[in-house]
Amino acid sequence: MLYQNILAIAPLLAALAVASPVTPAFPGTHPGQGAKVPIGFPKIESRALSGIGSQVSGDGLKWYQPSLTLGGPGYADKNNYVCYRGIKENFPSFDKWMNFHDMFELNQKTSMVVNDSGEEQGSLYNAILQVAKEALVDPRLILAVIMQESTGNIHVGCTNNGIQNCGIMQAFTGSVSFNPNDRDGSILQMVRDGTQGTSVGPGYVQWITQNSQTSYAGATQGNPYQAARGYNSGSINFSNLSDGKGATEAYVSDLANRLQGWTGNTCGNAKWLACGFKAFC
Ligand SMILES: *[C@@H]1O[C@H](CO)[C@@H](O)[C@H](O)[C@H]1NC(C)=O
Ligand SMILES: *[C@@H]1O[C@H](CO)[C@@H](O)[C@H](O)[C@H]1NC(C)=O
Ligand SMILES: *[C@@H]1O[C@H](CO)[C@@H](O)[C@H](O)[C@H]1NC(C)=O
Repeated sequence: MLYQNILAIAPLLAALAVASPVTPAFPGTHPGQGAKVPIGFPKIESRALSGIGSQVSGDGLKWYQPSLTLGGPGYADKNNYVCYRGIKENFPSFDKWMNFHDMFELNQKTSMVVNDSGEEQGSLYNAILQVAKEALVDPRLILAVIMQESTGNIHVGCTNNGIQNCGIMQAFTGSVSFNPNDRDGSILQMVRDGTQGTSVGPGYVQWITQNSQTSYAGATQGNPYQAARGYNSGSINFSNLSDGKGATEAYVSDLANRLQGWTGNTCGNAKWLACGFKAFC
């Protein structure tokens, strides 16, 4: 039933795509983004550890709610940026996240529209909601990561930070890119790769609810900010989630701001510098 509602909404969202875009200064991804191969990552184990069917359990469920309308409207000024660093308690609580509906529309108008057709945007919307429901990862977190990793550009290329990162979530080895001959299927798979992990490595589900691929990095306790640092850096400094350990220092702070209405997609922007974060390009 819910899924049918979702499909019905997609054409409406596609129609919104006519709004004139503000071209992100950096459409796509940049060095330092993406899932990183963890130091001491165990040898390839059972495929059942990640990928399709993976689901959050335990404390991570405190950061999941499926409603598309629960949550505020986000920052009044969508260029607002708060510097978040240090321990997880310094980052915004769950009730501060804006609602999914407004968050999707905001990013659709400002970023997705630059490189994605109306059908592609509708397909991405459906994929986020389907994977969120199956993985029990909040759809807003999935959307924030997509915006962070690729500015929502489904045509984004692969990068390599030690492993090959492909697709809108620049996910672990084995992740796929967009396939124009299979629009819905490849977009769904790109969202799965980053959220549920690939056949060989972790995604957000495994960083939130840990398994042997991620638990050596220390206990994330289901906290999405700690999980995000693990995803991007392969290890976590629990005293400072803005310690990039060679990856993007601003990564977790950016997600925290995106979840509250920030749309910034620039690389090395003034906000980062003002926060003392190293800019990448
Ligand atoms: C995205 O769109 C911009 C602006 O139209 C274009 O310059 C760029 O090549 C596109 N990038 C990709 C990867 O499609
Ligand atoms: C973790 O971050 C804290 C605070 O920034 C810093 O003092 C410490 O050296 C970092 N730990 C490691 C292992 O890098
Ligand atoms: C955390 O890391 C960021 C980025 O390197 C740095 O600016 C900040 O001073 C560090 N320490 C704390 C406690 O915030």
